[in-house]
Amino acid sequence: MELTRRLQPLLLVLLFSVAYSDNGARTPLLSVLQMQADDHIRFSSLVAGRSFVPIGSGRPSPNHVVKAKIGTPAQTLLMALDTSTDMTMVPCTGCIGCSSAATFAFAKSTTFKPLNCAAAQCKQVQNSNCLGTVCLMNMTYGASSIAANLAQDNITLATDSIHGYYFGCIQKAVGALVPPQGVLGLGRGSLSLISQSKSLYKSTFSYCLPSIKSTSFSGTLRLGPNGQPKNIKYTPLLTNPRRPSLYYVKLIGIKVGPKLVNIPPSAFALDKNNGAGTIIDSGTVFTRLVTPAYTAVRDEFRRRMGRHSVVSSLGGFDTCYTIPIGKQVPTMTFMFEGAELSMKQENFLIYGSAGGITCLAMSASPSMNVIASMQQQNHRILFDLKNLKIGISAERCS
Ligand SMILES: *[C@@H]1O[C@H](CO)[C@@H](O)[C@H](O)[C@H]1NC(C)=O
Ligand SMILES: *[C@@H]1O[C@H](CO)[C@@H](O)[C@H](O)[C@H]1NC(C)=O
Repeated sequence: MELTRRLQPLLLVLLFSVAYSDNGARTPLLSVLQMQADDHIRFSSLVAGRSFVPIGSGRPSPNHVVKAKIGTPAQTLLMALDTSTDMTMVPCTGCIGCSSAATFAFAKSTTFKPLNCAAAQCKQVQNSNCLGTVCLMNMTYGASSIAANLAQDNITLATDSIHGYYFGCIQKAVGALVPPQGVLGLGRGSLSLISQSKSLYKSTFSYCLPSIKSTSFSGTLRLGPNGQPKNIKYTPLLTNPRRPSLYYVKLIGIKVGPKLVNIPPSAFALDKNNGAGTIIDSGTVFTRLVTPAYTAVRDEFRRRMGRHSVVSSLGGFDTCYTIPIGKQVPTMTFMFEGAELSMKQENFLIYGSAGGITCLAMSASPSMNVIASMQQQNHRILFDLKNLKIGISAERCS
């Protein structure tokens, strides 16, 4: 994971300068976020008994964000959704190296508590150490290394406030903090949002991620069993003891157009020794497939694109077209045991601006298959940790 994420900042700078360079009239990010989110939050709080949190794009950074309120009185911050991270991490006021304009002014919160070294939660965190009596953690996230205080404060996502929520208050970031807003940890570990809100949300949540080009908060994070779709196909949620925080699923095949691509089963196998297998992840942007799977999918894709000329590569992508492409693009389907993810062009092609370049937005991975956020856009993904299953259905939310 760390390895694949580390590639992203480089790729993204490249791709986003391509994808958005023509788009001169962009509305300032924050004002749009405020307008749209205020509306949605007002609406969602009217729907009694449901905890729906609007999801928007973290543009210009290519992640998906929600608005969260932290502290007393509450301060509103954007946080990126990350199903592969347990610990929620927030850039705190005074942070050295954080790029975020908005930081959490912890000194203004009457309910903020830095955690003591002796606290059990401090011991649960890898690489924790003490600064005086304060619990400090050092970790790498994507391309950055982070130093954070483990702390507690209230957090409110929809209408419910979780009191004494454990999170990392980021003090220092070396290398670009990706995502710049901080992270809402939706993993399976004991310090994740899902574990810390178990009595409230019963280990169940779902999301529909809108397009990362979307300017409105049209996606939703639904917390708890109420308001979840009834007609949805499930695939078993698997666990790999090597990486217990990650959501593993059983990928059994990949179709390009109607054709089931010939991929050796070993490319899908779960391996307890090295963490191999297939995960669903909202914190990685582009899908990675282990080399034999990627090569087979890419070759079938290229074959179906036929007469179009392939340019060598762009960033980390090796299948790019310089002429406009359209109808001839095949669909693509990831087939899981019991469910499938049917993808449209928007889920696997990244477009350049007018006259630009279009690339197959996937690449080879040395170890693990990662079904990433772009591939999940405009689908509802339902995580039911109690019954160990993941639901997948198409849903337009951008
Ligand atoms: C935060 O939690 C405390 C209890 O620890 C509670 O008294 C207070 O009202 C909460 N504040 C908010 C803004 O929810
Ligand atoms: C953790 O990060 C802090 C702040 O950058 C640094 O002072 C400390 O030496 C680091 N500790 C470890 C164990 O790396």
